[in-house]
Amino acid sequence: MTDKQVYPVSPEVAERALVNKEQYEEMYRQSVEEPDTFWGEHGKRIDWIKPFTKVKNSTYDYNNLSIKWFEDGVLNASANCLDRHLETRGDQTAIIFEGDDPSESRHVTYRELHEETCKFANVLKEQGVRKGDVVTIYMPMIVETAVAMLACARIGAIHSVVFGGFSPEALAARVANGKSRFVVTADEGLRGGRAIPLKKNVDSALKHHEEANVDSVIVVTRTGNDQVPWTEGRDHRYEDLMQNASAQCEPEPMNAEDPLFMLYTSGSTGAPKGVLHTTGGYMVYASMTHQYVFDYHDGDVYWCTADFGWVTGHSYILYGPLANGAVTLLFEGVPNYPDSSRMGQVVDKHQVNILYTAPTAIRALMAQGESCMDGTTRKSLKLLGSVGEPINPEAWEWYHRVIGNGECPIVDTWWQTETGGILISPLPGAVDLKPGSASKPFFGVQPALVDNDGNILEGETEGNLVILDSWPGQMRTIYGDHERFIQTYFSTYKGMYFTGDGARRDADGYYWITGRVDDVLNVSGHRMGTAEVESALVAHDKVAEAAVVGYPHDIKGQGIYVYVTLVQGEEPSDELKKELVQWVRKEIGPIASPDVIQWAPGLPKTRSGKIMRRILRKIAANEHDQLGDTSTLADPGVVDELISSRAFR
Ligand code: PRX
Repeated sequence: MTDKQVYPVSPEVAERALVNKEQYEEMYRQSVEEPDTFWGEHGKRIDWIKPFTKVKNSTYDYNNLSIKWFEDGVLNASANCLDRHLETRGDQTAIIFEGDDPSESRHVTYRELHEETCKFANVLKEQGVRKGDVVTIYMPMIVETAVAMLACARIGAIHSVVFGGFSPEALAARVANGKSRFVVTADEGLRGGRAIPLKKNVDSALKHHEEANVDSVIVVTRTGNDQVPWTEGRDHRYEDLMQNASAQCEPEPMNAEDPLFMLYTSGSTGAPKGVLHTTGGYMVYASMTHQYVFDYHDGDVYWCTADFGWVTGHSYILYGPLANGAVTLLFEGVPNYPDSSRMGQVVDKHQVNILYTAPTAIRALMAQGESCMDGTTRKSLKLLGSVGEPINPEAWEWYHRVIGNGECPIVDTWWQTETGGILISPLPGAVDLKPGSASKPFFGVQPALVDNDGNILEGETEGNLVILDSWPGQMRTIYGDHERFIQTYFSTYKGMYFTGDGARRDADGYYWITGRVDDVLNVSGHRMGTAEVESALVAHDKVAEAAVVGYPHDIKGQGIYVYVTLVQGEEPSDELKKELVQWVRKEIGPIASPDVIQWAPGLPKTRSGKIMRRILRKIAANEHDQLGDTSTLADPGVVDELISSRAFR
């Protein structure tokens, strides 16, 4: 990677920008030196039912961990996204819906979204949902998903959105873990011209998993497929329930530290964890980062291509933009349907000014060649954003030159489900760009690099990325397991939040995220625990043992490489490989499909029985010459065998 190439802030961008270089420096200084003053002021950017008098109250002291922001303030997130705009921009578009089918799109105003949300909030209440209850949302990318999330927020229910690409098993585990008694879904989803059997998956999840105990399933009609199975008494049609619902629903006053939502994400060990975000700090942080990082101005059309099933969809399709009164585009489909010009087509059709997408999407388009942008001008674009994984400089340059016509700054935004909002990113008017670098911290964020013993490293260096103090959007706990929260994030390096990422800092103080340093994979920007895939594999009766590692993949960033040891008597075969791939898709979902399966008569283990993944990663990456120290292996012969039988890709 080179950090030689620099794109300075252009005069036009600086002219328009909310924050210039000097302002950034000064605001950043104040945000870390006087957090109460800084956030006390910026905390007022959202509406409070009862204003806060306290701002920051946090300590990362391992034995005494506590994170609270605006703790005596009272507010409602849905009122901040809807009600407060009614007077000034009630008839302005809030959401532009662009369907999977290019002939389908519509605009939803703030007033319409407000009305629909109030009605659905009343529907939820009628179904017995109370403040603090968990509502699972397993939906496609349609307006009703936004309505469902906002309706939960309105009545103080905690939404738990489960990505529509997850399997029934994965859904059931999340419903059960959240003790969620309510599910909102659709008959089917539509993606790339194909129907996704969402309701059928819900049925299958609830039928085969007693621990997922649900009273009510509300089904939005998306495709109208009337073959969708129905359980009388439990299942209700959204449209029927909405028909008689009142459009009056007062927003529930929520304490700043009351939960807003939970969202499952993968860690290096164990089952996915329910990351819990609260209301006040999250709303302040999501809205502020959305405005400053994307340099959002009134009237800009903003498009984030993420899915509501991930945190990016929460913070930067829904809560951040709507709190700012933005026009947010909601896309149901995929970038290559009906063909790979779709992204450019959508930009032109809706005159998108700000486009926020993932490196994997850019690399997929890049592989098609520049002609995929033929017939589109993308002249409306002013700013581009990237998220989810490191963006290689080559993809950055292509994004800049081809999609952005060489005229748009790119904000490479580094953050995590846990962080609620963007932590490291250039501000377009303030920070010169270096392709591949997420660059500088946002206000209030204090990144540091530490060695494996937790010593802070200074200057130009590389190490483990930690954050030294709290910011308002930070997660507060793991749902139902506070101890695991403390252990996962605050025990590796005492007194610091550990991100799980590694990074390099260059001589200009720019951060370059190098990727996870733990056993978490990042496949097409989707985060996955190797342990999750392994436990899915060993649940198959022919598998004795499995080890999963990531390997470099041109489009996906990382691919999933699986080493499988079969139980005695089972023969390796191509059929069995296919069966195992199907099995993992069934257990987790298509996003976890193994790319490569290598049969492994044995796995490299230490004498105490620990699998040495470092070696497996090197073999998968075809870097046999860099295996490093293998002297602690119980049986070094295993390694030679794996190298000689390595699967060819
Ligand atoms: O490894 C980092 C990578 O994605 C991880 C967080 O994944 P998730 O919680 O699913 O959230 C993704 C969307 C915020 C991080 O630990 N990551 C995210 N953004 C970047 C990134 N890596 C490098 N550069 C980024 N811009």
